[in-house]
Amino acid sequence: MDSIIVTGNGPLKGQIPIAGAKNACLTLMPATLLSDEPLTLTNAPRLSDIRTMTALLGSLGAEVSSLQDGKVLAMSSHDLNNHTADYDIVRKMRASILVLGPMLARDGQAIVSLPGGCAIGARPVDLHLRALEALGAQMDLRDGYVHAKAPGGLKGGIIEFPFVSVGATENALMAATLAKGTTVIKRAAREPEIVDLAQCLRKMGAQIEGEGTDTITIQGVDRLHGATHPVVTDRIELGTYMLAPAICGGEVELLGGRRDLIAAFCDKLDEAGVEVSETENGLSVRRRDDHIKAVDVTTEPFPGFPTDLQAQMMALMCTADGVSVLEEKIFENRFMHAPELMRMGAQIDVHGGTAKVTGVSKLKGAPVMATDLRASVSLILAGLAAEGETKVSRVYHLDRGYEHVVGKLKGVGALIERIPGQ
Ligand code: UD1
Repeated sequence: MDSIIVTGNGPLKGQIPIAGAKNACLTLMPATLLSDEPLTLTNAPRLSDIRTMTALLGSLGAEVSSLQDGKVLAMSSHDLNNHTADYDIVRKMRASILVLGPMLARDGQAIVSLPGGCAIGARPVDLHLRALEALGAQMDLRDGYVHAKAPGGLKGGIIEFPFVSVGATENALMAATLAKGTTVIKRAAREPEIVDLAQCLRKMGAQIEGEGTDTITIQGVDRLHGATHPVVTDRIELGTYMLAPAICGGEVELLGGRRDLIAAFCDKLDEAGVEVSETENGLSVRRRDDHIKAVDVTTEPFPGFPTDLQAQMMALMCTADGVSVLEEKIFENRFMHAPELMRMGAQIDVHGGTAKVTGVSKLKGAPVMATDLRASVSLILAGLAAEGETKVSRVYHLDRGYEHVVGKLKGVGALIERIPGQ
């Protein structure tokens, strides 16, 4: 297992290109199952989660060709010959559940293993199943698998979620495109990835209104056709790298960055004393002065502060002036990075879904362990600001969601190396 060694060495300067969004790509890829014509995605990120989705689609009979060094995914679901998403693939990645809605909508049958994924709480899929039931599907849970059927095809209906779920909204939206009649999704997620999915589905011939609001209306069509679609910028990768100059000084331009993808996060950075300005090619970030002010953060569905940036924000707060309170409202058990940051000298008290961080003047390098995707990168950010060497082990989590993290940070002057097999 590889590890990453980071040595704190002061201000960073330069540019970091931001990739296409992992989470958008993971929902756009299963959209290929909705049509027998090709779907091509450009601006795809090169990540192990994308390879897992490629394997999953392949196991169902879809063809996925990775072109231009992985930046283009040319997909075709002309010959689907299997309707079972096997545990061996699904357990690696929770987003695998996103094949359920499209398969069911197209062929009236799907068997999908219950997913695994990051160890950040229980993360059930009940909302996905209820949404598809509202479209007339029959669900049966047996031997760890969801057996779904819609013999006469799905029928439009009202889906009212009890709370916001990104994945369940995506599954419902994809399924509804081919359901007979009108579907209304209430309390829909408003994340940019949902908007991106709706735009792609519309290019494929779907009739959708209201994406980006909490009510999405879909008029089912008989069939969808082929399309080409660029994956939206990864707002979480963007926010993560915006924190690098915030945490250790300097000025970094994030190429492709857009403020509207991440406004609540930018507002918090501003409050903390970090300036974010729009440039011709993206966003530029620097501290206003040497000090970072402690700010309180509560994670919320979009347009609120994203849970996927909570760990990274905590790394910034570790050396801020004062006390900050971070409240995690989306997932239980999402503070696994806290004890690792404490190994580096951070002062953090976790009580349930709340973490109180008391800023210290300096963190100290230490051996630490990556526990999940976003936690891993928070340790790298902390390492950039720490005195001495930080060794982050179990970095395979990082490969799921950050392409070329070492190269990107080296490019702005960080001292960072990947050590194979340690
Ligand atoms: C997606 C993102 C993930 C992000 C999360 C919240 C992808 C591939 N992953 O995950 O990076 O952290 O949105 O922004 O896009 N829940 C249920 N029942 C369900 C579904 C969800 O109880 O059927 C709960 C979850 O446990 C969680 C909350 O709802 O507490 C929100 O989860 P959800 O928005 O569904 O997250 P994902 O789509 O899994």
